[in-house]
Amino acid sequence: MEKNLAVFASGNGSNFEAIAKACQNKRINAQIALCVCDHPGAYVTERAKRLNIPVLELRPGNFPNKQEYEKEILKELKNQNIDFICLAGYMRIVGDTLLSAYPSKIINIHPSLLPAFKGVDAIGQALDYGVKVFGVTVHFVDNTLDGGKIICQAAIPYTGNDREELEAMVHAREHALYIEALKVLL
Ligand code: GAR
Repeated sequence: MEKNLAVFASGNGSNFEAIAKACQNKRINAQIALCVCDHPGAYVTERAKRLNIPVLELRPGNFPNKQEYEKEILKELKNQNIDFICLAGYMRIVGDTLLSAYPSKIINIHPSLLPAFKGVDAIGQALDYGVKVFGVTVHFVDNTLDGGKIICQAAIPYTGNDREELEAMVHAREHALYIEALKVLL
């Protein structure tokens, strides 16, 4: 049966769009029933509107705490019968409200070979370190920064120093790996 996905994103949304296209092309047996964005007006919301995908835009700062913020999200996830949550550039640690409502059903993508280079600007961190094999990880989400059991990884050997070129390689690999992970999990 076709699963209902929610994709959480904070910014650009290229992974969101890659998942949306894979659903449309039936490469995965799912549809994105909701886009959740914690930065109202972020480019991902424009992509969602163009693709006719409902968007929930929330400012976490408008809630007294993470629990109340996530309860509001949970209400909408239930309304939309969401089965599975994909974090795609969602730059926020998921709390117990969502984790306990969706056990082993929340996954994330991160642009490094975890557990190396967690957090913001993983590609820049790895470049600064002088890494020669970059990569991408899809993992289950726990309540720590980019933490949780790894589902799949892809290595990207790169010895140049052109950040733009490397970023393009990493993002292209991300888009493919996220779909591969979803194919297995769904
Ligand atoms: C992606 O590279 C994703 O792996 C990263 O944010 C980018 C979002 O790009 N996520 C993290 O760093 C999570 N810690 P996108 O908005 O174009 O999909």
